[in-house]
Amino acid sequence: MTALLETGVQHTSHDDQLRAAAIRVLLDNWTGTGTVPSRSLYPHQWSWDSAFIAIGLRHLSPRRAQQELESLLSAQWHDGRVPHIVFNPGVPAQAYFPGPGFWRSSTAGRDGGAPAVAQTSGIVQPPVHALAAWLVHRADPRESDRRGFLRRVHGRLDAWHRYLAHNRDLGGHGLVAIVHPWEPGLDNSPCWDAPLRRVRPAAAGSFRRADLEHSAPADRPTDLDYARYVRLATDYRDHGYDDARTPHAFRVEDPGFNALLIASEYALADIAEAVGADPAPARARAKRLTGALLDRLWDGERGVFAARDLYDDRLLPVFAVNGLLPLGVPGLPANVISALVAAATGEHFRLGRVHLVPSYDLAGAEFDANRYWRGPSWFNTAWLIHHGLQAAGETDRASRLRAGFLRDARATGFAEYIDPLTGTGRGIRDFSWTAALTLDLLTHHEDGR
Ligand code: SER
Repeated sequence: MTALLETGVQHTSHDDQLRAAAIRVLLDNWTGTGTVPSRSLYPHQWSWDSAFIAIGLRHLSPRRAQQELESLLSAQWHDGRVPHIVFNPGVPAQAYFPGPGFWRSSTAGRDGGAPAVAQTSGIVQPPVHALAAWLVHRADPRESDRRGFLRRVHGRLDAWHRYLAHNRDLGGHGLVAIVHPWEPGLDNSPCWDAPLRRVRPAAAGSFRRADLEHSAPADRPTDLDYARYVRLATDYRDHGYDDARTPHAFRVEDPGFNALLIASEYALADIAEAVGADPAPARARAKRLTGALLDRLWDGERGVFAARDLYDDRLLPVFAVNGLLPLGVPGLPANVISALVAAATGEHFRLGRVHLVPSYDLAGAEFDANRYWRGPSWFNTAWLIHHGLQAAGETDRASRLRAGFLRDARATGFAEYIDPLTGTGRGIRDFSWTAALTLDLLTHHEDGR
């Protein structure tokens, strides 16, 4: 590892300096079994962070990338869910809220088969893991085969996707529903404002936030948002994290979550084929999900995908980055692809004229250039849209987005997110997935992913 780092440091080009800096972040944030998104703000292992981190780590050490995914998957519940946080028992309780004492997974989650020893949260995050596992395998297939990596993860990834298909199709239309705004990863997006209004906030003073000790309050969700996050998580926990039994005041079909599941179902089919299992079920699920995504979440009038509130079965008319994420889904009709590219480049996102891709409508009443998912641009969504543009044949736009990504990552010291209008870093620095995806975009690989 040190040799790799030194190799990076000895080179003098701009890209090699950036590569060395990205590697330094990933080495510093490595705990021995996985990677923390940030030493200060997020001192445990997060689910979709680990998938993006593994995608970058594969260029540094395919073996370490395998370990990243396997340490996360080792905390999988028997019902198949991959929890959104796996807690590090060595980290002080007050370092993060809500911590293990809040979620109480090993007792409250016993019926779902939560691990007896590892402590986790009870909600989930977007299923990018099969895609990450396949890319990690492809980085060094011989080493992966020698270690039996795909054979070990195949069953776990399959169980994860089956959990989502069977337990989370709360609307009964073939799409996965999220039950907490943290599940799609876009915590305080204006997309969730309307459904969240129905959630009675937890009492002020009944919990203590730890995030504000590490990040500027203007960059973070508000206390009122947090009070609702706490209420939803408490209700889920108090119903044993049982999807059928919990009343779910918040139930939404999200285009980003479902688009990433489709990409991962195709990757799972590739993994199945590689280990001699039947790829047909994962492929069939991917096709069914794609049909349901188009039927349920395509907003033809506005030319973007939109989340659907299962409370009243209505689309939530908000321009947000989750509505662009399906761009990379295979098999979309040509008119949908061209409408998505037009939406990305139009007045709401101004792709190519602002920094990366704003998380929310630049022309929207709720736009806030600083506050987490209410405007700032994020590096993981830019990485996904870069690949979506490539898949759509928009190669010039894709390479300009890549160049902007690398410039902004360098200029901000691997910020968590940035102001889309000025490029100024927001949130914390040395953020792992920003560094990992920088490393990925700096590295050329044969399949272009
Ligand atoms: N993103 C949430 C946080 O800020 C939880 O996943 O802690």
